[in-house]
Amino acid sequence: MELVRIYHERSKHRQDRYAPGPGGLDWATQPNPFRRYAGAPELELPLLAGELPVCWDDLFGPGVPQQAMTVDSIASFLQLSLGLSAWKSYGGNRWALRCNPSSGNLHPTEGYLICPALPGLPAGVHHYRPDQHGLEQRAVAPFAWSGGVLLALTGIHWREAWKYGMRAFRYCQHDCGHALAALSYAAAALGWPARLLADWGDDEIAALTGLARAADFAGAESKEAEEPEALVWIGPGIAPTAAAVLATLNDAEWAGHANTLSPQHRDWPDIPAVAAATRKSAGTKVVPAQLAALPPLSPASQEPVSHLIRRRRSAQAFDGVSAITAASFYRMLDALLPRIALPPWSLTDEAPYVHPVLFVHRVDGIEPGIYCLPRTPAALAELRASMRPDWLWASVPGCPAHLPLYLLAPMDVRDFAAAVSCQQDIAADSAFAIAMLARFDDIDPAHAWRYRQRYWEAGMLGQVLYLEAEAAGVQGTGIGCYFDDALHRALGLDTARFQDLYHFTVGKAVVDKRLGSDAPYDR
Ligand SMILES: Cc1cc2nc3c(=O)[nH]c(=O)nc-3n(C[C@H](O)[C@H](O)[C@H](O)COP(=O)(O)O)c2cc1C
Repeated sequence: MELVRIYHERSKHRQDRYAPGPGGLDWATQPNPFRRYAGAPELELPLLAGELPVCWDDLFGPGVPQQAMTVDSIASFLQLSLGLSAWKSYGGNRWALRCNPSSGNLHPTEGYLICPALPGLPAGVHHYRPDQHGLEQRAVAPFAWSGGVLLALTGIHWREAWKYGMRAFRYCQHDCGHALAALSYAAAALGWPARLLADWGDDEIAALTGLARAADFAGAESKEAEEPEALVWIGPGIAPTAAAVLATLNDAEWAGHANTLSPQHRDWPDIPAVAAATRKSAGTKVVPAQLAALPPLSPASQEPVSHLIRRRRSAQAFDGVSAITAASFYRMLDALLPRIALPPWSLTDEAPYVHPVLFVHRVDGIEPGIYCLPRTPAALAELRASMRPDWLWASVPGCPAHLPLYLLAPMDVRDFAAAVSCQQDIAADSAFAIAMLARFDDIDPAHAWRYRQRYWEAGMLGQVLYLEAEAAGVQGTGIGCYFDDALHRALGLDTARFQDLYHFTVGKAVVDKRLGSDAPYDR
């Protein structure tokens, strides 16, 4: 546990000193963003032809028709969650963007599909290749369950550490949270529920995905270790148990050898240390939350989900003048509340532990200032007791009655929001920015894995805002670079109880017209 606290403190950016990092980009050792397993049989997946007949608002209504699980529908699911969304180019450089965002576009997250035989898909363990929109079959195994598939997420910390050094472990966890929400939305678009399987231990996920097969990674240095992260059950049926799945894998035939991502590496020993300290053991139980029912979400967009997901982009700059309507603002915040029957919150039964503090700059009819959105009534009391005693906690005129939005102080917070976000103008020139406060004092020795999961939850909030922003005709951007304790001090936070784990900003983007843009796939 001590390791987790030490890592968290050492990986904080401070106004007088950034967390230890490489101090520059060594292009010669830039990690390959695409994992490959040479020698594994490959299967090209069909691409979406046009858009799915499901609009954004349908995801939050009475139900989307359930598609049969075949190679076509599974391919759509993978394309809309982990697939490429475009190729960008500038000055002779070319890089791919994906439906799931990633800090620095470095993409540490890998995806594995584990399925029984489905029309067009053989049973086994498959690695998803976003660059090809294809599968590499790592293991042939006679899985015989029905009613769904398993999707495992893993993370290669080196990909982020190459650029961000010690703080990279945090970004890998944020990215995992974004990817989890991306899986949930894509599944919902096909009419499938998605559930995080909390009881699987990390060692079991490593066995399931083949990460535990050291010989298959020989040469792909241990410095590029791929870590198990999360396992999701996709589909209407009941997930098979870990024991049953792993027993079937005992006699499986495996194929493929992992590629090496960089010719050389730099060590960031805090990262394997915190990774080891936060692994989850098998059989972990989560306590289901008792949450009050909420009214339905107001309509946001009739655009096809598949279009909106593929159009999602991070704003690199905001125009500094455009406001959003109060109705759009309230809808975006409402989508952050835990409606456990709706994506992406239907992934888990756990209570929300991450709560936004908002810096409102440009929302029609809403006074600029600092606001707070405690996502549960219990959090309202805790946050109030932990922050400055002179915050107002005033209700907001015109705010929907069920939305727990409170004004802490009316003021111009543009400079402040940018200053605590590593001086990034994107936090000031937008309509609003947020800081995400996570409950921290319950990350105890028996639950060190919660350290990862708090970032996942923050990443999920970020993914909701990315897509809600697109639905409202604006854009969002994740902000992993912020000054942790400067924000805590300004809020008067008792830092043992809550910690700032992520920032986000939403507004009218200025598009950089110098960038070239190509279709994600040639075929
Ligand atoms: C966890 C996370 C942290 C990020 N932090 C920043 C940041 O501090 N500043 C910034 O300009 N963009 C940030 N981004 C945006 C990424 O640079 C962006 O997602 C990536 O370049 C891919 O582009 P796309 O989102 O348009 O697909 C962050 C994104 C994520 C997911």
